[in-house]
Amino acid sequence: MRRTLIAATLLAATVSAFAQAASAPSSPAKKELVRKVLQLQQQAIEGTAQALVEQPAARLLQQAGMALQTRVPAEKREEVAKAIQADAKKFADEVMPLMRERDVRELLAVPEHYRILFMQGGGLGENAIVPLNLSHRLPEAKVDFVITGSWSQKSHKEARRYCDAQIAASNEGVGAANHTAMPAPSGWQLRDGLSYVHICSNETIHGVEFAQWPDLQSLGCDAPLVVDCSSHILSRPIDWSRVGLAFAGAQKNIGPAGVTLVFVRDDLIGHALSVCPSAFDYQIVAANQSMFNTPPTYAIYIAGLVFQWLKRGGGVAAMEARSLEKSTLLYDTIDNSDGYYVNRVAPDCRSRMNVPFFLHDESLNEAFLAGARQHGLLQLKGHKSVGGMRASIYNAMPLDGVRSLVGYMREFAARHG
Ligand SMILES: Cc1ncc(COP(=O)(O)O)c(C=O)c1O
Repeated sequence: MRRTLIAATLLAATVSAFAQAASAPSSPAKKELVRKVLQLQQQAIEGTAQALVEQPAARLLQQAGMALQTRVPAEKREEVAKAIQADAKKFADEVMPLMRERDVRELLAVPEHYRILFMQGGGLGENAIVPLNLSHRLPEAKVDFVITGSWSQKSHKEARRYCDAQIAASNEGVGAANHTAMPAPSGWQLRDGLSYVHICSNETIHGVEFAQWPDLQSLGCDAPLVVDCSSHILSRPIDWSRVGLAFAGAQKNIGPAGVTLVFVRDDLIGHALSVCPSAFDYQIVAANQSMFNTPPTYAIYIAGLVFQWLKRGGGVAAMEARSLEKSTLLYDTIDNSDGYYVNRVAPDCRSRMNVPFFLHDESLNEAFLAGARQHGLLQLKGHKSVGGMRASIYNAMPLDGVRSLVGYMREFAARHG
């Protein structure tokens, strides 16, 4: 762990020095900073971090550090290029097959008949990649969507480019009633002969979450369920018996943007349209252990550290208990504020990750946000399509963070009552 921290610190210092170098106004200052960058990289590669060389992390560090050198003096470039070339293959051979797949499989109890793919393109990329791979699984290419907020809307819009994508249910409403409750599965108008059914299990912007993922079989539908779980993955267990495919962009509960996790049942692989780009064809990606094209190594490396952090902290069960505690504290504060703060989502559909709320007097919004900033409480402004406030309390947010927020909310209400 300490070694990893050293590596991360050196890399961060390198990046920050490089950023300063790039923006330095005068050329002597620039030279000095570039020297500092090189020195830090040398240190990272040869000095303190030498011990890391036995570890994959070291090779990643080397690669990341060296990639930064592409904009440094010409005489250094050949050396850099050689080192990268020599290292890249070794790194890929040794590290990529691991790719932390084991950890995430263990964390989410993913059965063996599901492949775990590390892809690129993010959640929005999957909005196209899923229909390109699955929609023509059956000749009629029919796909049904359940609209529960902005993200499922976007998914539906994108899928319409590739197949007959229709809406089976929607929670769209007027004004304050828009996307505030999940449509009950018993009322979904699912068609026969569907290639799949798509849901978004946690709507990040509107703060509605499926407490249970629907059991399509019990609804008389034998199509596989496709789930965009980008914004709450790893915060609750998954009942795989209900899922054909699940995908998640990394940047909420996994790690840095750049890697997208796709969990796909074996029988759903191998149905891609011929126009599907090879790099996005699940069969090709699976056959190449997610290395058909160069994987986003840094993002995967950090994701691996997050998986280990989760395992050390008690895994998904512990995350679930913690997110329940955090979200209950926040919702209780809102609900017990005598209407000073309001959350409009039906209690049984409230997200444990994203909590939108409104001040009873919206003219106080700016004062609330300014005061929050002074308390170190950031990113509380609601999405522009919803307004008000939104607290995103992902796995990485400690309980103390939510305690600070509710403390501030009470204090603000008392002061501006
Ligand atoms: C539920 C959900 N799906 C999809 C996306 C889009 O992800 P990306 O920006 O990685 O394409 C987001 C982004 O916040 C999201 O919250």
